[in-house]
Formats: sequence, structure tokens, C-alpha cells
Amino acid sequence: MQEVVSPTISDCFAEWVSQPEILARFFNTLSYLEHLGSRKILSCNISFTEEHLRHATEETRHALRFKRMVRVLVKDTFEDYTLPSLLGGHAAYFYFQKLDATVRQYLKNRDEKDAMLNYLLVTYIVEMRAAQLYPEVQRLLEEHNIPVSVKGIINEEDRHLTEIGEGLAARGISLPEIDPLIKDEEMYYDRFLASVMKEARDIKDTI
Ligand SMILES: [Fe+2]
Ligand SMILES: [Fe+2]
Repeated sequence: MQEVVSPTISDCFAEWVSQPEILARFFNTLSYLEHLGSRKILSCNISFTEEHLRHATEETRHALRFKRMVRVLVKDTFEDYTLPSLLGGHAAYFYFQKLDATVRQYLKNRDEKDAMLNYLLVTYIVEMRAAQLYPEVQRLLEEHNIPVSVKGIINEEDRHLTEIGEGLAARGISLPEIDPLIKDEEMYYDRFLASVMKEARDIKDTI
């Protein structure tokens, strides 16, 4: 049987670059993910320090920056996060829900009730994803001469990853220990991206 090779984000950009309304929906979907990340931090039952407030604020700012990139590509549309404004429907929402449930179960199995550890694990895994995805997005933006940049976001995500990694280390959590969680996230992300790509192709067929 012939192996099915999933399209990469690079393949997608090559298809989307000639259709700004699809690329705009992709940026709006990234904006929605950032917004969900910010809401997730703010909903944590932790004692907020300056670092936590800054982190949540920066995730909201990332959501705003992606929203402004939407404005560069298409005017006066995709104002909000309603389904027609996104790619993949609610896949971004389910990505976060699944990740959250997986981390909760992991902590339950360890009989661990530390809300701070929940915050550190979920955010660390999400920052790992951002550290892979956003540099690739930046490379593709440059390759296709798309007049927006995610460099500022990448710098802030790098700092978040370092800070959260230090927080985990301070609690004696080693990275190999959370490898199963990272593997689960890869599966959720692949499903998210497959939904994004499928919807982009469906929309492309109707334009
Ligand atoms: Fe972010
Ligand atoms: Fe971040």
C-alpha cells in the first residue's frame, strides 16, 4: 500500500500565497490559538506574579499581532473568531482542550494537585510547539515575500520557553519525564493541522 504523506505547512503556504483570504484565515486561527493560550493562563488557579501577568499579556498581544496581520492581507473582514473566519472549525479549541485534559490526567496519575505545575506543563508544551512553528512561518513569509513578520513573537516565545523550563527544573521535573506528554501534543497538533489543511482546500475549491 502506498504511504500517505501529510502535507506540510510549507506545502500549504505554497498553495495559500495566491489566495490572501485563506492565508488571512490561517493567521486568524493562529490569533485564536494565542487568545486561547492567554485565557488558559489567566484561568489558572495560581498566585500570579509579575512573570505570569507578563506572560498572559504577551500571549494576548500575540493574538492582536496576528489579527493585525489579517488586516494587512484582507480589509474589513474576519473581525472575530466565528467559524467562517477560521480554518479547521473548532480544531484550535479542541487542541487546547485535549492538551489540558492530558496534563490533568498526568497530574492525577501522580496524585499531584499543584496548580502551578499544571500551568508550567501546559505552557511548556505549547511553547515547544511555538518554538517549532513560528520560525517556520517566518521563513515562509520571507520566502513568499508576504509583508508581515512574526520575529517579535518568536523572541518573546523563546523567553517564555526558557522561563517555563526553569520553573519545571525548579520543581524537579526533567524533560525526558514529560516526553509522553510531548508525544500526545504532537498527535493533537497533527490533527489540528490536518483540519486546517482540509478546510483550506475545501474553501479553495469554492473560490
Ligand atoms: Fe504566544
Ligand atoms: Fe508564549
